[in-house]
Amino acid sequence: MSEQNDILFRSFKLGDLTLPNRIVMAPLTRSRSSQPGDVPNELNVEYYRQRAGAGLIIAEATQVSPQGKGYAFTPGIHSNAQVEGWRQITTAVHEAGGRIHLQLWHVGRISHSQLQPNGETPVAPSAIKPKGAQTFITAESGMIDISEPRALATDEIPAVVEQFRIGAENAKRAGFDGVEIHAANGYLIDQFLRSDSNQRTDEYGGSVENRLRFPMMVVDAVIGVWGAERTGIRVSPTGSFNDMRDADPVGTYGAFAKRLNEAGIAYIEVVEDSFQGNLEKGRPQQVIDAIRANFKGPYIGNGHYTADEARQRIEAGLCDLASFGRPFISNPDLPERFRRGAPLNEWDSNSFYGGDERGYTDYPALGSTSQS
Ligand code: PHB
Repeated sequence: MSEQNDILFRSFKLGDLTLPNRIVMAPLTRSRSSQPGDVPNELNVEYYRQRAGAGLIIAEATQVSPQGKGYAFTPGIHSNAQVEGWRQITTAVHEAGGRIHLQLWHVGRISHSQLQPNGETPVAPSAIKPKGAQTFITAESGMIDISEPRALATDEIPAVVEQFRIGAENAKRAGFDGVEIHAANGYLIDQFLRSDSNQRTDEYGGSVENRLRFPMMVVDAVIGVWGAERTGIRVSPTGSFNDMRDADPVGTYGAFAKRLNEAGIAYIEVVEDSFQGNLEKGRPQQVIDAIRANFKGPYIGNGHYTADEARQRIEAGLCDLASFGRPFISNPDLPERFRRGAPLNEWDSNSFYGGDERGYTDYPALGSTSQS
């Protein structure tokens, strides 16, 4: 297929950014920041620089505050050292011709008191411990059960919104092109959104409108820093990872999409089929349709897409762009491979989380001599 005719390489206007292709690098936790302080480092610079051919890189989930941390070695965006570390990354990606957003993250209940400041109890909308959720607190700990969480008091919630606002400001100082709000995969915002994890009886729980209150406060705060054109969001309406479920995903996510549309957010990225588990087999088309009907802006589809499936779904209007996770781990030059129809390197899941350059920056790119 010639490049002009390959829809993956038709440029796309995302907010006020022009992307040269429709292939987005999904946010991927790799747990390789420097200690102490969860600071991005030279190895992380090399990893992102290698992947600058993506239409847009969405950098890994990054805690907006010490309280927002849930795993060892994930990076933060709340200290000056972290901002400086990230600045090296954004500079390298820009010099290599790429664009990069930061994913703003608060894990809520998916944490352990030993990862929390002063050994505090992790916070959540409700004091409900998800079944089977695990984390690791040191390189040696192995996977261990998360702690029993406590419910945030009503008057504590504005300060958590403020954590996101400060994270957004720090991301700006670090030179990102924009930010993505992490509202997926059973972390704090998702915990407020879905009916099973949010059993609150105040104005932040109960009705859909109430469950959307905290998520929309975060959206408004981040848009206040970046503008709607540079703010995106990620959701996982039927992801079961971290013991999540909702009584009515079509109702919840249809209403959320409508509010996001009113806010003018630049895009919605939807985890349609999570590698960590989905409540529905395959893609939840009813929920996807409800989101598409209510949110008129760009839609990034995610979850087990092949290149051809991405082309077909874009052609059919089911999504505008497609994000790829694991294929980007093992193929730094994934867009180029898609363009040429070249074979893909396989990923090694043993080196996803933590460790060194092995399984991180040592996956080979195609040779410089073109076979096409
Ligand atoms: C993980 O570290 O396992 C993880 C982090 C963020 C996600 C999903 C999984 O959104």
